[in-house]
Amino acid sequence: MKKYILFFAIIISINIYAQNETNYDESKIPEYKLPDILVSEKGKKITNSRSWITKRRPEIVSLFEENIYGKVPGELKFKGYKVVEESKDAFNGKAIRKQVVLNFKNNGKELNVGLLIYLPKNEGKVPVFVSYNFWGNHTVADDPEILLTESWISNNSDLGRTNNRVTEQSRGVGKKLLSVEKLIDAGYGLATMFAGDVDPDKGAAAGPDYSDGIHPLLYINGQKKPLDYEWRTIAAWAWGLSRALDYFEMDEDIDQNKVIVFGHSRHGKAALWAGALDQRFAMVISNNSGCGGAALSRRQFGERLGGMNTEFPHWLCGNSKKYDYKEATLPVDQHELIALIAPRPVYIASAEEDLWADPKGEFLSAYHATPVYELFGKQGVLSPNMPEINQPLMTSIGYHIRSGGHSVTEFDWNQYIKFANIHLK
Ligand code: GCU
Repeated sequence: MKKYILFFAIIISINIYAQNETNYDESKIPEYKLPDILVSEKGKKITNSRSWITKRRPEIVSLFEENIYGKVPGELKFKGYKVVEESKDAFNGKAIRKQVVLNFKNNGKELNVGLLIYLPKNEGKVPVFVSYNFWGNHTVADDPEILLTESWISNNSDLGRTNNRVTEQSRGVGKKLLSVEKLIDAGYGLATMFAGDVDPDKGAAAGPDYSDGIHPLLYINGQKKPLDYEWRTIAAWAWGLSRALDYFEMDEDIDQNKVIVFGHSRHGKAALWAGALDQRFAMVISNNSGCGGAALSRRQFGERLGGMNTEFPHWLCGNSKKYDYKEATLPVDQHELIALIAPRPVYIASAEEDLWADPKGEFLSAYHATPVYELFGKQGVLSPNMPEINQPLMTSIGYHIRSGGHSVTEFDWNQYIKFANIHLK
């Protein structure tokens, strides 16, 4: 008897192991069928932009809300904002710097989010890129005036992050990711927030915690945690990007009609969801966003939803766990997320060595979102074959796969500026 139990235990463990094993082999991708982007849930063919806007788009938004990112459980705008610091002398006099605090209050709770803005000087209202940063606003430039966040951050002794707070030691360490000076020189502003100000990134390692960040401000009746169909961290970050946009609408130096939402990796997932929901964003850029971002889930290549939901259980909504290792049963796939951005320009960027984020799956999302762009008379990606390395495509759906690994590089920024120049100037 004992022998049988042992035998079955081994078989079950092998199965679990096989199911969780990361696949990097194209020949092992299962056959899959994507949800038809141009057929409504009731089986009606969508043939024009009007029925896309009035019927199919709202259906897809609801499916993503219910099953992937979670719904924001109410309206919450900032109660007020304060420009806490301003200078006309940033980057040796080339740029204006503003530091603004957005203040949110509800349920007897309060949250402050710090927005750091650099704008090129003397150019009237300027277009801006808005992006989260990973380690605090003070890490995006070697600028001693940038204020330090007081929000929770994971510890890292090399960068002087102790007691879950940032210190001076990490000033400027993230400057390569956002390339502020390059943007200023090209006539664009950059606005950035520490993602942890909106919602601390506490995953399985730190222990998910729904009592901090923005969530408690919208809890009702002693609620302690978002319901299974409600927002967690990615949706909270997406929501925060829209609140930054609310502020831009009030800032006379910013062109509110030319706001480009950008995000790298986990912040790329949030940028796509923000751009999908909030049509005020004029352009959306996802850099190496991978699973739960631009990559098709059904390919099961690199990171899978099940793995992401284990390591980062706080990112997607509770309902998403129903699809762990059952991608074929998903009611949506990520090409539909890209299509929600239509007809606005969207850029998806992959990196050759970043197999974890499934470059080909990111490219195929662009390809399969194309029919929706075509309904608006826009050109997307015409061939299912990936372009060569470092050979960007720049129609209304931009795409490149560059050499190198998971990061944001000079090459990436050069393409984003070019893409914005083509589509927004
Ligand atoms: C992890 C995670 C990815 C995420 C990335 C990042 O690798 O698995 O989904 O995109 O972190 O944000 O850097």
